[in-house]
Amino acid sequence: MQKFLPTLGPVSSVIGAQWGDEGKGKMVDILAEEYDVIARACGGANAGHTIVVGGTKHVFHLMPSGCLHSGKQIILGSGLVIHLPTLLEEIATLEEHGIDVVGRLHISSEAHILFDYHKDIDAKLEEERAAKKGQGIGTTKRGIGPAYIDKAARTGIRMEHLNDDLSETIKERVPCIKKTFDVDINAAKEIAQLETAKKLLGDRVTDTVRLLHHYRETGKSILVEGAQATLLDIDHGSYPFVTSSSTTLAGALQGLGLPPNSVTSCIGIAKAYCTRVGSGDFATEAEGEVADRLRDRGGEYGSTTGRPRRTGWLNIDDLKFGAALNGHTHWNITKLDVLDEEVVIPVMTGGKMIEMPGWQSSTAGFTKWEELPENAKKYIELIETETSVPCSMIGTGQGREEMIIRT
Ligand code: GDP
Ligand code: IMO
Ligand code: MG
Repeated sequence: MQKFLPTLGPVSSVIGAQWGDEGKGKMVDILAEEYDVIARACGGANAGHTIVVGGTKHVFHLMPSGCLHSGKQIILGSGLVIHLPTLLEEIATLEEHGIDVVGRLHISSEAHILFDYHKDIDAKLEEERAAKKGQGIGTTKRGIGPAYIDKAARTGIRMEHLNDDLSETIKERVPCIKKTFDVDINAAKEIAQLETAKKLLGDRVTDTVRLLHHYRETGKSILVEGAQATLLDIDHGSYPFVTSSSTTLAGALQGLGLPPNSVTSCIGIAKAYCTRVGSGDFATEAEGEVADRLRDRGGEYGSTTGRPRRTGWLNIDDLKFGAALNGHTHWNITKLDVLDEEVVIPVMTGGKMIEMPGWQSSTAGFTKWEELPENAKKYIELIETETSVPCSMIGTGQGREEMIIRT
């Protein structure tokens, strides 16, 4: 077990350290080979996790990124808000690729069902914010905020009721939602979607908290897959420009019902630079041609919405904050190759921008630390010195194998 990186231990976690899209999916996919169980904890289909295997690209919004490895148990935990048609679509796409997941998928009975009307309300609220304040949050319009509104108001419908007849419950909601949000519910469509999901997934709903405890007790290893990222956390992020769930390690553990002392490692995933989708502060944001260059080289377009991502430089102060919140034991610095051609690389540390010399040679596809140019090593070492967390993994390309691993 963990021949990959012995220091990770039997319960590891992968948590985004910036504003999302750091490359969590790729890390989870690589580590999943070594773990028995892969568990997503919270959020919903606002996530977009891209994995490239043998040139084939897979994008997951709900399915844990470890699902490409056959035989691994995959869990959708209690903290999730699940749009069932999206989940069914992902299952169908995986099946088209010859990957069977249904039999090893376990969906928490405590997770909430996200309906189409949550998406409509999300769009409506964004429209209203834009009209009133000149800008919205820039949500993914996947219905996340409204689904968590229902959860917090205790009006949500949980997966435990998937096997019940929910037609009356849905129909009863129509007038109230119309009145509150001026949104029409297509009750017949919602009910039909529930019926389809019930047939395929009805028997996959279970008590995943007990199941995870059972896995731990019987010596199975568990990989916790965080979604979104630390700076999007509802409490500790740049409120109100955040998502509606707790995206830290603590939030992930809450979402899965795992105790804090069960975790043996927490990998912080951070790009070698920085991106953000949606509105809100971005202290190191680049402008004009520089921003476009980073976006082009990094392929920085949202995997969920296709929106161009805002781009900028690494903010080590943010990484320190993330390390303090999450207790990162390792960093996976991703997309180092995207900086290959930069002459100088600005970085924020101690509230100031400094400039690091670039290396101006290709690191694409490198798998060994020794192969890296000296200035690339210095760049990575700066992160380690400033954050006191080792950069154990360094991404050098999209592919599963394009990763430097320092044991
Ligand atoms: P996630 O949401 O954190 O899983 O990240 P996304 O999948 O939304 O975005 C990360 C993007 O960067 C994906 O297109 C990945 O294939 C790509 N990627 C991940 N790691 C690397 C890397 O080391 N180098 C390059 N060039 N691309 C990477
Ligand atoms: P992954 O898991 C990047 C951002 C949205 C918006 C804010 C609120 O792929 O890293 P929401 O739809 O959650 O109400 O939007 O949060 N956001 C993400 N940005 N990656 C994500 O997920 C995100 N999930 C939400 O762009 O600014
Ligand atoms: Mg993403």
